Amino acid sequence: MNERSLTLVATCSRGLEQVLAEELKALGGGEVEAGRGMVRFRGGIDLLLRANLELRTAIRVLLPLAGGPAGDRQALYALAAGVAWEELVGRGQTIAVDVAGRAAAFRDGRFAALVVKDAIVDRLRARLGWRPDVNRSDADVRVHLHLGVDESSIGLDSSGEPLSHRGYRPRGGPAPLSESLAAGLLLLAGYTGEAPLCDPMCGTGTIAIEGALLATRTAPGLRRSFAMERWGWLDQRIGHRLRQELWDRRRPAPLPILASDADEAAVRATQRNAREAGVAPAVKVSRRRLRDMPDLPSGSLVVTNPPYGVRLGEQGTLDEVYLELGQALRRAAGGCSAWILAGAPVLLARLRLRPAHRFVLYNGPLECRYVRYDLHGGSPPGGRPRPGGLAEEENSWG
Ligand SMILES: C[S@@+](CC[C@H](N)C(=O)[O-])C[C@H]1O[C@@H](n2cnc3c(N)ncnc32)[C@H](O)[C@@H]1O
Repeated sequence: MNERSLTLVATCSRGLEQVLAEELKALGGGEVEAGRGMVRFRGGIDLLLRANLELRTAIRVLLPLAGGPAGDRQALYALAAGVAWEELVGRGQTIAVDVAGRAAAFRDGRFAALVVKDAIVDRLRARLGWRPDVNRSDADVRVHLHLGVDESSIGLDSSGEPLSHRGYRPRGGPAPLSESLAAGLLLLAGYTGEAPLCDPMCGTGTIAIEGALLATRTAPGLRRSFAMERWGWLDQRIGHRLRQELWDRRRPAPLPILASDADEAAVRATQRNAREAGVAPAVKVSRRRLRDMPDLPSGSLVVTNPPYGVRLGEQGTLDEVYLELGQALRRAAGGCSAWILAGAPVLLARLRLRPAHRFVLYNGPLECRYVRYDLHGGSPPGGRPRPGGLAEEENSWG
């Protein structure tokens, strides 16, 4: 299995496939090919670990082991039983089978997981004379089954906990933006840390913190572990070397990253999360309403995610928030680009800005628009916006 060239699969939110493909090419992935919610690539085991540590937009990275039709119980059992599990599961290790996708024969994914688990257990008992225990929450070896209409695949999940769970933000509570989607927003906006960044509705700070990780060249997975680091057959020295290389690569953020929110609890959450992520010095957090947004240096990037309504039940006031955001951008962000992720696209008209570019992205199941606005005019860094900026922008709306 320590081969140089394996076929690997990284999954992502729909809409981010091309961004993930670019990330994989930059890491040295071969034959990179984007699909729906996933990117296939080739590389060795060291690239698999690097992908877990460094990819910003991936959700998990899989090592496929077998694929083919699995239209009924027998076919799925045969597919799973054909894998050399005795080389992959060490004596005494626990297993778990996770299921994604859909197939007519397995309306209940738990039944399909049970079939694969039985095939693994039977094979290990027949070949080695022992059977692994199942541990759903903390397995040593996580098996990933993807059910498809014509073709299903079985592989190892090298990530375990989704890669979007970087470890700096508590889970649970009202669902904010996922870390991998926030990173995708920044990469789509072309952010590399070489421009000032501002999120004036920062919530728990995900965009600002992901920005700080990018700007400081910090690999997003450095503070967590991955399922593959428990694979007994893997030379764990690869991980030590790679983690050291990635720690040494970090740098201070070259330019300011501003995060603000009207809500005091959001400000505290952002400060806490930035500390946990190790990027507190790079993120300047303050409590502020949109209408009090300070003038931004020309060339800044504003990336933000206004309240959704659908998620937070604030539909009544969303109109006003978008209106206030448009006014704040026209007044304070001349010469800047603003990128807005909107869960309720109809509200974008309230900004009274002309969109320059749009993407369709998914925040979980929610279809969103991610729209760029180029604000004309421009203020000299720290100065007042030129009067022409506002007039020009209002004229160009439509
Ligand atoms: C959808 S949440 C942002 C989630 C964020 N991206 C995260 O990762 O947690 C929108 C945020 O906008 C803030 N907000 C709403 N109206 C605002 C206003 N007028 N001025 C400043 N912040 C506002 C809310 O307090 C909320 O935290």
